[in-house]
Amino acid sequence: LKVAVLGGTGIMGREVARRLAEDHLTIIGSRDRARAEEAAKTIPGATGADYLAASRSCEAAIVAIPHPALGALQGLAGALEGKLVVSMVNPLKLEDGVFRYALDRGSAAESIAELLPGSRIATAFNNIPPGILRRGGPVEFDVLVAAGSKEAYEEVAKLVSGIKNLRPLYAGPLSEAAAVERITPLVLNLARWNRTGALGTRFITGKG
Ligand SMILES: NC(=O)c1ccc[n+]([C@@H]2O[C@H](COP(=O)([O-])OP(=O)(O)OC[C@H]3O[C@@H](n4cnc5c(N)ncnc54)[C@H](OP(=O)(O)O)[C@@H]3O)[C@@H](O)[C@H]2O)c1
Repeated sequence: LKVAVLGGTGIMGREVARRLAEDHLTIIGSRDRARAEEAAKTIPGATGADYLAASRSCEAAIVAIPHPALGALQGLAGALEGKLVVSMVNPLKLEDGVFRYALDRGSAAESIAELLPGSRIATAFNNIPPGILRRGGPVEFDVLVAAGSKEAYEEVAKLVSGIKNLRPLYAGPLSEAAAVERITPLVLNLARWNRTGALGTRFITGKG
């Protein structure tokens, strides 16, 4: 698949792009083409482009930009029409030393669906720390996926399970994206207050 990572110059986007590039033609998208090309040099097989060029040439896009920057997707609706778009965006705020979910209603993924009405939207990778993507190793993490359709989920599941040590789990339709995004402030607070180092989601099957 030809996958664009919009914001692939960033902390999380770069790690997801690095892993996707093992199996897919991966395009790092940036506001600045030169910055995209610099980042692409650090990932074997990847190329760099500005957001519009990356969106035009990809078959699927990952949105890896900060929540307050989602307006950057305006103008990409045509280029991304009919394509799978996967948000990893968490609307977060830090208040009195506590991470909190920043929205009273809706979700980042549903906002993206409004900005890109012709695209197939899902959310994934929200609760995974970038370090584990770099590390690999035996620890398995679950990537919770909410998606606009079961078909979109299947496409995301294929991308996720192509990355060793990640298991996709269906978290429901896009209306459930907020439930997925809301886990991130909890995970960040747990890591911070318990000094565990970065945490990610993993669900364990109960016996009996
Ligand atoms: N870091 C994590 O642990 C983590 C884990 C899971 C999910 N996430 C989510 O993934 C997303 C990216 O997180 P991050 O930590 O990687 O963020 P980041 O490094 O701060 O930013 C990612 C990229 O977004 C682009 N960007 C920044 N401001 C922008 C703007 N105003 N308009 C357009 N593009 C802008 C920048 O690319 P250019 O300057 O090259 O355009 C930047 O490299 C966030 O929504 C976050 O909630 C993060």
